[in-house]
Amino acid sequence: MNPLLQRLQPYPFERLRQLHAGVTPNPAYRPISLGIGEPKHATPALIKDALAASLAGLASYPATAGEPKLRQAMASWMQRRYGLAVDPATQILPVNGSREALFALAQTVIDPTRVGATVVSPNPFYQIYEGAALLAGADTWFAPSDPARNFAVDWAAVPDDVWARTQLLFVCSPGNPTGAVMGLDEWKLLFDLSDQHGFVIASDECYSEIYFRDEPPLGGLQAAAQLGRSDFRNLIAMTSLSKRSNVPGLRSGIVAGDAALIKPFLLYRTYHGSAMSPIVQAASIAAWDDEAHVVANRALYREKFAQVTPLLAAVMDVALPDAGFYLWAQVPARFSGDDAAFSRELLGFYNVVVLPGSYLAREARGQNPGAGRIRMALVAETAECVEAAERIVQFIQSTAKAT
Ligand SMILES: Cc1ncc(COP(=O)(O)O)c(C=O)c1O
Repeated sequence: MNPLLQRLQPYPFERLRQLHAGVTPNPAYRPISLGIGEPKHATPALIKDALAASLAGLASYPATAGEPKLRQAMASWMQRRYGLAVDPATQILPVNGSREALFALAQTVIDPTRVGATVVSPNPFYQIYEGAALLAGADTWFAPSDPARNFAVDWAAVPDDVWARTQLLFVCSPGNPTGAVMGLDEWKLLFDLSDQHGFVIASDECYSEIYFRDEPPLGGLQAAAQLGRSDFRNLIAMTSLSKRSNVPGLRSGIVAGDAALIKPFLLYRTYHGSAMSPIVQAASIAAWDDEAHVVANRALYREKFAQVTPLLAAVMDVALPDAGFYLWAQVPARFSGDDAAFSRELLGFYNVVVLPGSYLAREARGQNPGAGRIRMALVAETAECVEAAERIVQFIQSTAKAT
């Protein structure tokens, strides 16, 4: 067996299942889950229609690089969204969702034979970053998010000797779970560090289309172009249709950036066998070509967050994020920072599932930056999310009275 498999940590939802085992949810309430970040808004008909219309694609093997017309549709979307000129022949590839792309990129770029191979990741973080790093034979170094700066990652906490052996840096903007969006200054800092130490930056941007400010989130490639780095050197951006278009089951995304990285990435993928089905390619073209459903989807999230956030903000420390579809809240003082106890008791008394924040982060240098927080995924319809929020309010008010 590959001994590196032993280094993998249990996935947060496995830990959640264990935490909730033995809890009997109050049967007076129907179950509501704010646990998994799986979009629940309706899949647009235009995507389903494109899928149904392209079943002839079942009869052929797809190319790993995808059809030229798909790469062109993806590049055109990046042009419209970010004002970018991305070359569809050399700087863009289709992937089966950003999850597999994040994993595969690490396998492509990391050289485990170099002493101290290191991957730097935000903390809290999407757990695939860690698994990708460990299975590529690297070690991880976690940079904490700073609640005092709207959860921006404290890159200054990373020592110089760590940067010196870093081969890959994961960034997530908009962040999961914090919703924080990186600005141009932060990008400049990271590009300077990448130039100095030669590491690759993998920019996970799968929440980019769900935002609450007027200004859409800055993309990594967009930041590079604004700073005169039009070759996107050492930078790869990833996004997907899962959240933008409510198709987590389609498994369709984009990897774009430095042509010198895209080429070996394509080679790796050819052997890995991760070509996108022709049917999914056809549906993806329809999805990237249409923006009306994305505008409508964003409006639904805005309406939902406008209703839910103030309800919860009245009883706990929580605020509207920059973007994404999570609320990242502090548990009330009576729980003494025990986010797991909060999650367990809430399920028992009110039949609502929330994810303990400590499960989304690692303890590093004596601190788990997710501890004392919970993540609430507002993916269900507004009425259900409002009902969950009302139950959480009652739960917090009743536990406050009990102490
Ligand atoms: C931060 C982050 N990155 C990537 C993904 C993977 O999404 P997909 O593979 O559907 O594009 C997720 C899914 O929840 C996520 O939260």
